[in-house]
Amino acid sequence: MKPTKKINLAVVGCGYWGPNLIRNLGSIPECHVKIACDRDQERLAHVRQLYPGIKTTTDYEVLINDTEIDAICIATPVWTHFELAKKSLEAGKHTFVEKPMASNVSQCRELVELADRNMLILMTGHTFIYSAPVRKIKKIVMCGDIGELLYISSQRMNLGLFQKDINTAWDLAPHDISIILYIMETHVTAVNCQGEANINTGIEDVTNMSLKFSNGGFATIQNSWLDPNKVRRMTFVGSKRMILYDDNEPLEKIKIYDKRVEVPPHYDTFAEFHYAYHYGDMYVPYLKQVEPLKVECKHFLDCIITGQEPNSSGLDGMHVVEVLEAASESLKREGARVEISEISQELTNSRTKKYAVV
Ligand SMILES: NC(=O)c1ccc[n+]([C@@H]2O[C@H](COP(=O)([O-])OP(=O)(O)OC[C@H]3O[C@@H](n4cnc5c(N)ncnc54)[C@H](O)[C@@H]3O)[C@@H](O)[C@H]2O)c1
Repeated sequence: MKPTKKINLAVVGCGYWGPNLIRNLGSIPECHVKIACDRDQERLAHVRQLYPGIKTTTDYEVLINDTEIDAICIATPVWTHFELAKKSLEAGKHTFVEKPMASNVSQCRELVELADRNMLILMTGHTFIYSAPVRKIKKIVMCGDIGELLYISSQRMNLGLFQKDINTAWDLAPHDISIILYIMETHVTAVNCQGEANINTGIEDVTNMSLKFSNGGFATIQNSWLDPNKVRRMTFVGSKRMILYDDNEPLEKIKIYDKRVEVPPHYDTFAEFHYAYHYGDMYVPYLKQVEPLKVECKHFLDCIITGQEPNSSGLDGMHVVEVLEAASESLKREGARVEISEISQELTNSRTKKYAVV
């Protein structure tokens, strides 16, 4: 259904990421970014300089009480997400929350249920699932080109930026986890995570987690704020082929290797046992370069207009937080295996999808 009016939006949080949301939303004809909100006047002055047409305020209640505002996008620190998103949904506004969606699973569940009750769109900022390389990888995996997906390994590391309220897993791993869940299309059943707090006491700057999936799948994720290089590498290992995704590569972000190990069917003695290593061609698929955040912002608006469930819904946000929460628990227990409950899966199954259309 075509909207009869532009969707009026407000953005809260104008630090590093918020202005990127304002820029992308502002470039979409279906919407109008009416107000930007931040507690910091300097950040608001910066926004006014970039986008003179936008009203600014330090008071979130102005957004909440503005009946013209259809939707609020939240790009503030993680610990503020729940309170701001809850107020937004209670005020009847479609809500976009940056990753990770909230500080724990029960907060996420409350937001998902509130959005459902009020028939509002709740979307999480899992930007990478809107990127061309990740979407291409999903297509390749889904069509069976790499055979059975055996495991995924992911490394997301750089020097800093050190956060005071969250560790490196909560900061960086939401991207890895959301990509992995998007590709795997199944649920994590157990998490192990180890880490070290080298710089700030109690806040791990290096973490290493492993995930087990309900379909038997496996993934490892390494995150660090203590690496000399910016690393953004994922490997998708299939039974027939392997995909290397390096997001730092300017053009050739995905390489598909025709490599595998073939295990002979049966040998009687160990000496006779030889693996067959297959080395074939490598090819680089073409990717159309579009800014993922623009695709993500457009998708949020489309969901508001059509009532369709977002590709990174509140539930998807909750599944990511579920893994992070389990990782935190495992960190406390020196890397012990932490099982993920099936409660959120029940919520996924029991939920009906009905959204109000603007
Ligand atoms: N999707 C992505 O790729 C991506 C990239 C970077 C950051 N993020 C996410 O965006 C969010 C913000 O990150 P950032 O790096 O921009 O942080 P930041 O610290 O640079 O900016 C946060 C801003 O929020 C403001 N703020 C804090 N509490 C507020 C409140 N209650 N009301 C109004 N303003 C408030 C602060 O003054 C600050 O300007 C985080 O959730 C982060 O994970 C997402």
